[in-house]
Amino acid sequence: MKNVIYQIYPRSFADANGDGVGDLRGIIGKLDYLKALGVDTIWLSPIFCSPMVDNGYDISDYRGVDPLFGNLEDLEELIACAKERGIGVLLDLVLNHTSNAHPWFKQALSDPTSKYRDYYIFRKGTDNSPPNNWRSNFGDSAWELDAGTGEYYLHVFAKEQPDLNWENPVLREELYSMIRWWLEKGVAGFRIDAISFIKKDLSFVSLPPDAPDGLADAQAHWVVYPGIEVFLAEMRNKAFAPYNAYTVAEATGVPHERLAEFIGENGYFSAVFDFSYTDIDLANGNWHSLRPIPKAALRDAIFNSQLAVSAAGHGAVYFENHDQNRSPNKYLAPNEICYESVTMLGALYFFLQGTAFIYQGQELGITNYPWQSLEQFNDVATVDQYQRALALGLSEQEALAIVSQRSRDNARIPMLWDYGKNSGFSDGSPWLPVHPDYPTLCAAAQDGIPHTILQFYRDMSALRHGDLAKLFFDGSFAPAYQEQEGIFAYRRALDSKTVLVVCNFQNNDASLELPPSSVLIGNKRSGLEDLSGRTTLAPFEVLVLLEKE
Ligand code: GLC
Repeated sequence: MKNVIYQIYPRSFADANGDGVGDLRGIIGKLDYLKALGVDTIWLSPIFCSPMVDNGYDISDYRGVDPLFGNLEDLEELIACAKERGIGVLLDLVLNHTSNAHPWFKQALSDPTSKYRDYYIFRKGTDNSPPNNWRSNFGDSAWELDAGTGEYYLHVFAKEQPDLNWENPVLREELYSMIRWWLEKGVAGFRIDAISFIKKDLSFVSLPPDAPDGLADAQAHWVVYPGIEVFLAEMRNKAFAPYNAYTVAEATGVPHERLAEFIGENGYFSAVFDFSYTDIDLANGNWHSLRPIPKAALRDAIFNSQLAVSAAGHGAVYFENHDQNRSPNKYLAPNEICYESVTMLGALYFFLQGTAFIYQGQELGITNYPWQSLEQFNDVATVDQYQRALALGLSEQEALAIVSQRSRDNARIPMLWDYGKNSGFSDGSPWLPVHPDYPTLCAAAQDGIPHTILQFYRDMSALRHGDLAKLFFDGSFAPAYQEQEGIFAYRRALDSKTVLVVCNFQNNDASLELPPSSVLIGNKRSGLEDLSGRTTLAPFEVLVLLEKE
């Protein structure tokens, strides 16, 4: 039973060798911090060999650690040291594509007759142009020319991330054997990247263009495309099940009606991330058209997701990850961001059914970075989105403002540890800038101090692991006080116990009729205070209550 999983973006967590990039030894040095935070598992974003076009989500050797992060011995030591502290380690499996620097792809290009050609998806073009007009997720055509043969290869993401051909059973067996090899090494399981994309519509039919670039969104032809279930079931049976591995999949586009098949009793995965509430600000799936988030719509999105997920299996609840901007900036107005509102956001998702995920720095309340120019960004998708915004007629200033808000680099800036150089992240020059608010946000400024965001997260994690652990993981979920505007509230129940979480998600008081209960955690009241009847909640107050039996 996993209750709290902490995501580490290794490039930005802790740099032990002073090259400006985080590494495995840096993580080893911070395990006690993670233990004190109360997490039971950590998930490492990719640490495998990679040219780093997409910061490790472009793998050139699935069984090797990139020298930037250390080596295999460091990883084994990390796994062992984490285990000593009762912490499991999840690796990030990128199975939809490899890097174009992977030996398989290099051989596919250099010898089109080799077996590796069929590990990827090559097709002939038409009239000197790509086989069809599908747009990649990073903005340009999804096809790239192989000048050697005149054929094109498919890439759902960047052109340096050629898609693997899952139709090929030999390739699939290679992947399963690699997965088993890591499980033999003692990893607790995996977060699985972009898995919804592994099955394609092989007709590769061109679509009506949806933008001036002549390209078209191909989601309907490669996201959870019919037939994917055969591959997913096979992978579960051959790779995960024999080891009873925990798996949480980035499975974009799984409709709520199909969740049972994905995460039910004999599902493909232990859990999947649901994007319905974290991508609620995207007007059409792109960052360059953000829309305001009405409170009622957000509440419906979170609760509908939770109702569907908890009916099917266990959830993987989260507000942040390495692809999202920071949650205070997404869900709060700039003048609303404060201790109360940020802890309220934390408690809002933390006690939902399933496993709660914390993304590094979220427990400190790190906010978006105040970007000033495009040159400051590293993320390949940010640059693409900026170009697309310009192509749609936005001015440079408008395009910068929009990508600054949603850029993935907001999550990827260095972790803030202390008051020292680069906030203790690195002795060298960090690969992304350090947040200027580090003197108030860093861990040292909050450690051991009551009424801080860090302490609140520690309290929440402790609660999730205490006597009520099973209730939070497994108990029923039911929305409450839905008729009251600005109140996000729900009940969790198991056997004879009921927990009520009440968030006053607004910058004014709210008056509520509460059942006889005692406070388990609150950002205004705490310490087993008893409450009952008409109660006034302060702006952004959150109460986690144990109802009297
Ligand atoms: C997933 C990852 C993201 C990456 C993409 C391509 O969405 O979370 O960071 O860019 O897959 O691998």
